[in-house]
Amino acid sequence: MQILVTGGAGYIGSHMVVSLLEGGHQVAVLDNYANSSADILKQVEEITGKKCPAYEADVTDAGQLDALMAEIRPDSVFHFAGRKSVAESVERPDFYHQQNVVGTQNLLSAMAKCGCNQIIFSSSATVYGAPEKLPLTETHRVSPFNPYGVSKLAAENAITRWTDAAPERRAVLLRYFNPVGAHISGKIGENPKGRPNNLFPFIVQVAAGLRAELEIYGDDYETPDGTGVRDYIHITDLVEGHIAALAYAQNHKGSEIFNLGTGKGYSVCDVVHAFEAATGIKVPYQIKDRRAGDIATCYADAAKAESQLGWVAKLGLEQMCRDGWRWQENQSGDAQK
Ligand code: WQD
Repeated sequence: MQILVTGGAGYIGSHMVVSLLEGGHQVAVLDNYANSSADILKQVEEITGKKCPAYEADVTDAGQLDALMAEIRPDSVFHFAGRKSVAESVERPDFYHQQNVVGTQNLLSAMAKCGCNQIIFSSSATVYGAPEKLPLTETHRVSPFNPYGVSKLAAENAITRWTDAAPERRAVLLRYFNPVGAHISGKIGENPKGRPNNLFPFIVQVAAGLRAELEIYGDDYETPDGTGVRDYIHITDLVEGHIAALAYAQNHKGSEIFNLGTGKGYSVCDVVHAFEAATGIKVPYQIKDRRAGDIATCYADAAKAESQLGWVAKLGLEQMCRDGWRWQENQSGDAQK
């Protein structure tokens, strides 16, 4: 199939491009490189031995998008382009609406104009807000409490309205829990610009000596060891979930939502200890106050994806730590060249 991957130079997008190329698809990448680099696509070519056309473009530019879609004429679109920092979204809610909602609306409009009827969308468990019942199923009420989560839910709703408007249209909306780790080759991974907001890249940077110590945001939650519990999922498993979603979309019209998580929750201390065991590297930390907006526990009920997509996460926390560290070691090695 001819597939367009928006945000294809980003952390999740680049791993998706590798998998699609290895699966024999023709892939085109669209990215504005605001939170990524075109160099990543050279690593994708090294991994796959295949080159794919890349277009520097912004989904908020409707005219540019219409022209590109008319040129590429994809059979399916994987939509990753967007901003994903909760903290940044609190400071810049309008920017998040523009990037994540208007950008998605522009994409849907461009797809309609060029006759593309299929989209796989990168959504987030943040749309659920504070869990009322765990594990989280896809029918749990949605109540996002930050502009990032609000923008993701609004984009989901825009896509659902788009498929409701024409019978041939298909959409799979994938709600990610906490994607971590890196491709087994160590050539691509998560490379946040500036101070990492998320736990896993921060641990990796402490281990690499780039940060002095990890700050653990609160140890007084109602959890086994008092630190926050999350559902960490290996990026490779996450990408496999998208491949299963692509197959599902061939036989199912309309929009369908799936959680992509492991169904297991690990605390911050669990992750620190797993990382130390997997790498042999001590991760110094200090307990700090809770981070505003954080919840105690969040993990998926992944039964629907297992029964309807035939997908289940296979890789454990140790593999996430080992693969994430290999990527950082390669990064550090490159930095010293
Ligand atoms: C995990 C745990 C923190 C950093 C966010 C987004 C979500 C998704 C994943 C996009 C929490 C603790 C963290 C640190 C810490 N992104 N922590 N010290 O908040 O679960 O989810 O990223 O879709 O939408 O909301 O992930 O990695 O920031 O935090 O103690 O330096 O680690 O308190 O318990 P989160 P996270």
